[in-house]
Amino acid sequence: MRVVSGIQTTGNLHLGNYLGAIRQWVAMQEQGECLFFLADLHALTGNVSPQELANSTIEMAATLMAAGIDDRAILFNQSRVPAHAELCWILQGTARMGWLNRMTQWKDKAGKNREGASVGLFTYPVLQAADVLVYKATHVPVGEDQKQHLELARDIAAKFNTDFEVDLFPLPEPLISKAAPRIMSLRDGSAKMSKSDPSDMSRINLIDDDDTIAAKIKKSKSDADLLPDSVDGLAERPEAKNLVTIYAALAEREPQSVVEEYAGKGFGAFKPALADLAVSVLAPVRDRLTQLLDDRAAVGAQLAKGAERAAALAAPTLKAAQQAVGLQV
Ligand code: TYM
Repeated sequence: MRVVSGIQTTGNLHLGNYLGAIRQWVAMQEQGECLFFLADLHALTGNVSPQELANSTIEMAATLMAAGIDDRAILFNQSRVPAHAELCWILQGTARMGWLNRMTQWKDKAGKNREGASVGLFTYPVLQAADVLVYKATHVPVGEDQKQHLELARDIAAKFNTDFEVDLFPLPEPLISKAAPRIMSLRDGSAKMSKSDPSDMSRINLIDDDDTIAAKIKKSKSDADLLPDSVDGLAERPEAKNLVTIYAALAEREPQSVVEEYAGKGFGAFKPALADLAVSVLAPVRDRLTQLLDDRAAVGAQLAKGAERAAALAAPTLKAAQQAVGLQV
């Protein structure tokens, strides 16, 4: 089993990233060989300033370490392992325009202005495929929003193996969190919690202080009804459902047991309990993060060490891919 996953280095890590992905990453360190990276090359496809990119790479690495990623995993930034970009170029010969045109993230991010969108935004999922295939990843823990990109990676891997008559790439399996596949915005139950939402009130950042966490939960959108005694009663109540999902995921309990506990109570009672729970889980992560950020050079050194280990694992696969397509290397 080889586990690979990444996170784009823009903005701050939030509760959706934590519950949907990072907590799975931490747990998987027990189970297999893990490589986790900061997708700084992917960040270039958006409008990120050089300063912001530099800071957010270190801050996100520190956040992952604060959340529990340790020496059992290989932690690095994507751009320090050039094999990702080199394999990406080779796989661009395999990926089809039609496949990329169907990607919902591309459609959402480019919007109506396709002519003005960066080429990188379009080929983004090919680099993502290279990220996992260059390590022959077998499992990729991600939130539900990345499932389509992983399916594309499987299609690219299968076509490459067929076209060049090799058995090089295993088809990577997406591992989607059962507890928190898609955490929604605190302001809008139909939009996912996201780094790019202009409203900071829509998300809980892992660097938020206790009062901010409590205030964001208090002001989160909910409804005037009481909590039902079964999760089925949340079906048409997206904001209420999201708050219950967050509670259950943070407490590592089933949503049904949470609604049973609060059945018949309103959000006036539920929200303070959720705020206390969120603070109890997130405050220790934030406190470790604050300590780690006191020594950014040490975090940078960790990343450099990780990159060396990752590069050694990537090299043979890149070479095999180059040979398969006939490059003289
Ligand atoms: P990114 O940076 O948007 O998100 C990082 C991880 O967090 C998950 N996630 C969520 N899960 C639940 N609810 C949410 N609201 C939520 N928001 C984000 C994402 O699914 C993801 O697992 N393209 C990727 C980064 C990437 C990557 C890769 C991932 C680059 N190369 C290779 C896996 C394998 C991205 O932008 O994730």
